[in-house]
Amino acid sequence: MKGLILSGGKGTRLRPITHTGAKQLIPVANKPILYYVIEAVRDAGIDDIGIVVGDTEPEIREAVGDGSSFGVRVTYIRQAEPLGLAHAVKVSRGFLGDEPFVMFLGDNLILDGIKPLVDEFRREGPHCEILLARVPRPQEFGVAELDGDRVVRLVEKPKEPRSDLALVGVYMFDATVHEAIDAIRPSARGELEITDAIQQLIDRGRVVKHHLVTGWWKDTGKLEDLLEANRMVLTRAKRSMEGDVDAPSRVEGEVILGKGSVVRDSILRGPLVIGARCTIEHSYIGPFTAIHDDGTIRNSEIEHSIVLARCVIRDIPVRIEASLIGKEVRIQRSQLKPTAYRFMVGDSSLVDVL
Ligand code: G1P
Repeated sequence: MKGLILSGGKGTRLRPITHTGAKQLIPVANKPILYYVIEAVRDAGIDDIGIVVGDTEPEIREAVGDGSSFGVRVTYIRQAEPLGLAHAVKVSRGFLGDEPFVMFLGDNLILDGIKPLVDEFRREGPHCEILLARVPRPQEFGVAELDGDRVVRLVEKPKEPRSDLALVGVYMFDATVHEAIDAIRPSARGELEITDAIQQLIDRGRVVKHHLVTGWWKDTGKLEDLLEANRMVLTRAKRSMEGDVDAPSRVEGEVILGKGSVVRDSILRGPLVIGARCTIEHSYIGPFTAIHDDGTIRNSEIEHSIVLARCVIRDIPVRIEASLIGKEVRIQRSQLKPTAYRFMVGDSSLVDVL
């Protein structure tokens, strides 16, 4: 069985971060989402993995390499334009051949992995197996309609969903999916939808099994979901202190402090992770915060946030929370006159001031 990880897409809902980087490489608990995905596929016993890439190909290649650091073999497949998930399968035909495969969207996180599901697919050999999860806003997903235990209808982002069962971004197929994809046409949004291809399989009387995911799953395409993913992963953090903490500081709960980081006169209240070579001074770092390498936090308070590499946060009088802060950002209190807010923020940024 092969693995197909989709890592194209524009990540429009995570701008401005995705103006300068692939959404699949945004770190959750200081590790790129894509790494969790590769590990989940590997842990299901699959070591031949194709990664479908778009404009961000160089960055993804740089982060993943040939896969050997994960113990897998990675083949990169270029999708010239993001024309849909079924289109991604189409351009991967050469890599996939006629083998069964698991397709995993590179921005989806399933905390407990997919091994039992892949085992089940291998054992029972349906033509397709989909994962479903109950969600509060099904209109943002592909939605499944069941009749008893049978999947009868799948609709991509319906305005009026007929159930609350969303398609999770993990799908298993045998080679029959390719003829189903050949039979579908682009949707109203101009994409070849995998949802339509699975509907084709159903209409052709193929066996489409479903599995209800009751564990934790998240599509990290939006800020709130990304923060929630960060929170979930951090709830499993185990204390590991490689940095240096001075006597006046307090460390509570599960705190991961990377090599070369120094903490002075501060409170770290886990679960949280601080990367390597960070400086934390006279500050409070609260639960569910991930601060990436080479960051500086001084005279400030932050919690429930993701801070990317090389940021400086200084002298902020109000606690920062529920924030996603890109690489090399400076957030600081200014002494300049006139007293005013001064911004230099990228396109599509969001700034909430008091
Ligand atoms: C895609 C699929 C959708 C699925 C979702 C899961 O949507 O088209 O059917 O429910 O992934 O993450 P996207 O997030 O690309 O809009």
